[in-house]
Amino acid sequence: MRIVITGASSGLGKHLALGYASSDNELVLLARRQEKLEEVAVQCRLRGAKVETIVSDVNDFDVMHTIGTRLAQTQIDRIILNAGISVGHSGGVTSFEDFHRLFQTNFLSVHALLEPIIPKMMAQESGEIVFISSLASLMSMPTSVAYSSSKRALNAYAEGLRYQLKPHGIEVMTILPGFIDSEMTQKNSFKMPFLLTTDAGVKRIMHAIAKKKRFYPFPLRFYLMIRGTLLLPQFLSDRIVNYANFKKGA
Ligand SMILES: NC(=O)c1ccc[n+]([C@@H]2O[C@H](COP(=O)([O-])OP(=O)(O)OC[C@H]3O[C@@H](n4cnc5c(N)ncnc54)[C@H](OP(=O)(O)O)[C@@H]3O)[C@@H](O)[C@H]2O)c1
Repeated sequence: MRIVITGASSGLGKHLALGYASSDNELVLLARRQEKLEEVAVQCRLRGAKVETIVSDVNDFDVMHTIGTRLAQTQIDRIILNAGISVGHSGGVTSFEDFHRLFQTNFLSVHALLEPIIPKMMAQESGEIVFISSLASLMSMPTSVAYSSSKRALNAYAEGLRYQLKPHGIEVMTILPGFIDSEMTQKNSFKMPFLLTTDAGVKRIMHAIAKKKRFYPFPLRFYLMIRGTLLLPQFLSDRIVNYANFKKGA
């Protein structure tokens, strides 16, 4: 299988790359930090995979489009859109600059890369597009408005693509993790509920992809808590959100 993974230099992307590294797979790994990306590539090659690394910033949309066009010259079986950032949790107003960067990285960059790849997958009449969203997209906390918004936009995009591409034999999957140990979450100073180890989180993601789950929120208990809160009368859900926020120290 030829698998493209963005944000493969650390965290979930790195461990997904290692998880798919075998002599059956050819990996294309993309991120900005060359040294870290090469370390991942070396480990993947030791597991038998053929690996191409692309050192690039997903916010450079012209470059993403060019990379997508080049990648689409050969079969692409799976692309995992994982590169993403958070700007931390704060009770203050997010600067426009941060807001813009979050939307570029977590949302807009995705289409810059996919635009040339989707027609290729349509021509193949096969392919899998996997979006790494977040449980935070389901309920926008006051301390992470921009992050939640960017991931909710991603969900909407993924949902539309799924309907659009299903008749062409293309599977579109949206994975919504809760907290998983990574460079991103190591910056959080509050106690993260239901925090998973990187290995445990990535195993769940790989399981969901293997089962072609179109919408996969996890861990289940955390997801059910969010769904339950959203179903409550507004005044009760407001109280719960305020309490959770207070616990975060925001
Ligand atoms: N960890 C969690 O609890 C959690 C929960 C829900 C969703 N997620 C999502 O999971 C994804 C992976 O996050 P993570 O937790 O594994 O965090 P991470 O360890 O910080 O990894 C983020 C990855 O994205 C890459 N990246 C960031 N900005 C980029 C850019 N402008 N251009 C190219 N690559 C870029 C980083 O590589 P370089 O810095 O080398 O470019 C890195 O490889 C993100 O989309 C995140 O929103 C994470």
